[in-house]
Amino acid sequence: MDSYVVIGNPIAHSKSPEIHVQFARQTGQSMSYERLLAPLQGFKAVVKVFIANGGKGANVTVPFKLEAHALADRLTERARLAGAVNTLKFEGGLILGDNTDGAGLVADIVQNAGVPLAGKRVLLLGAGGAARGALLPLLEQQPAALIIANRNHARAQELAAQFARFGKLEAVEYADLSGTFDVIINATSASLEGDMPPLPASVFSGSTLAYDMMYGKQPTVFMEFARRHGAVARDGLGMLVEQAAEAFFLWRGVRPETADVFAALRK
Ligand code: ATR
Repeated sequence: MDSYVVIGNPIAHSKSPEIHVQFARQTGQSMSYERLLAPLQGFKAVVKVFIANGGKGANVTVPFKLEAHALADRLTERARLAGAVNTLKFEGGLILGDNTDGAGLVADIVQNAGVPLAGKRVLLLGAGGAARGALLPLLEQQPAALIIANRNHARAQELAAQFARFGKLEAVEYADLSGTFDVIINATSASLEGDMPPLPASVFSGSTLAYDMMYGKQPTVFMEFARRHGAVARDGLGMLVEQAAEAFFLWRGVRPETADVFAALRK
């Protein structure tokens, strides 16, 4: 049986095994998928042992996505641009690194939430790893405008410059944001601390989708703020399922259905 793992530290909370086991059952793929805790200084060693034991692929989560990027022999373009890897495939003695997070985000917004990005005004909050990973897949949807806002404005400007050749995007300070947006994506880590970016309420309209990449039992502060100002809010649980589906496709060449898996997780 082909074996896969999700590697992180901590890892006990990961929902990925639940998701991939359901994908495998649904598509009739013979594979196992388990959690693998790597010591903070031992990511590379853990991967090497897993490969030596016949492992076929791995998902990589906090805090190893940059190390996984460095470890890969070959990178997909989206992983190279993201500067981080969340999916590894072991094949013919080589390590392929991919990043399916941004594709998962776009799939959840466009397909699951039913909100097109093409021709729309999109605001991306944050300029860290999560924001970087989202940029290429977002630009591929050809929004009318893509604005990046970040507390540290220079970081947002750097990102905008780096991705300029893939589409129209611009860095704008929070205080200078004007007009409403069709889609606002929170790619900051503020929700982890029960906080939210310094966003003016004027960016929301009744038809805005406010998307938080984080998820939890309760809506985030950002989601609550957006709802208070009339927007529709959505958390990142669907992104989690969709990035997993994209990794599953890379490994198995089969695209799983995600709706039932999402519904089961939500419960
Ligand atoms: P990740 O990999 O999750 O993106 P990161 O690279 O540490 O993590 O980036 C965190 C992002 O969240 C940054 O854009 C950070 O803004 P700064 O670059 O200005 O620090 C943003 N962030 C974190 N807490 C925030 C808060 N309370 N309000 C606004 N932005 C916040």
